[in-house]
Amino acid sequence: MEIKAKHFVVENCEVGEGTIIRDYVNLFGCKIGRNCKIGAFVEVGRGVVIGDNCKIEAFAFIPSGVTIEDDVFIGPHACLTNDLHPKAVGDWEVTPTLIKKGASIGANATIVCGVTVGKGALVGAGAVVTKDVPANTLVAGCPARIIRKVGASKSKKPAKKSKKSKN
Ligand SMILES: CC(C)(COP(=O)(O)OP(=O)(O)OC[C@H]1O[C@@H](n2cnc3c(N)ncnc32)[C@H](O)[C@@H]1OP(=O)(O)O)[C@@H](O)C(=O)NCCC(=O)NCCS
Repeated sequence: MEIKAKHFVVENCEVGEGTIIRDYVNLFGCKIGRNCKIGAFVEVGRGVVIGDNCKIEAFAFIPSGVTIEDDVFIGPHACLTNDLHPKAVGDWEVTPTLIKKGASIGANATIVCGVTVGKGALVGAGAVVTKDVPANTLVAGCPARIIRKVGASKSKKPAKKSKKSKN
């Protein structure tokens, strides 16, 4: 582990070789694989497992209950969640979330807990994901909807019919 930071909390964590940790990162009781990049102001909760070669951009929030497989990109300000019906007082239940190998989560996206983001899937910036995302599929919007397969060509919108002039 290479800590390129002056201010950080790394408490009871297992961090793999070659992983770089930036400033103001809080890591609590989690396991992070090899050759990952953990950007500034990232928070990772207890019991989280992050695979190898992941890139977690600045300000991402990754709470308990989340599992991230290898080669995953988590964009800046992405927010993963773990409580479907949050309240300040009383018991609560962790609802798990799984981000599968090679998936990418766009900047500022929110992943509502209980979903699986499939292998190689891409979540657009600012999306709110409320359902499972199939493998190699692009989703975007609030709530997130399927746009197309990742890498598939964009479907062209039908050209608008031009109004005939009346002369
Ligand atoms: C979703 C995304 C992959 C689509 O890219 P694209 O296929 O090149 O799509 P386009 O830019 O051609 O946009 C196609 C349409 O989708 C809309 N759109 C693009 N991104 C969108 C998003 N994140 N949410 C909702 N709508 C989006 C565009 O406005 C456009 O609408 P229109 O057809 O009505 O004009 C891309 O916009 C995106 O969000 N990428 C993630 C970027 C990111 O967070 N990177 C993190 C590293 S900093």
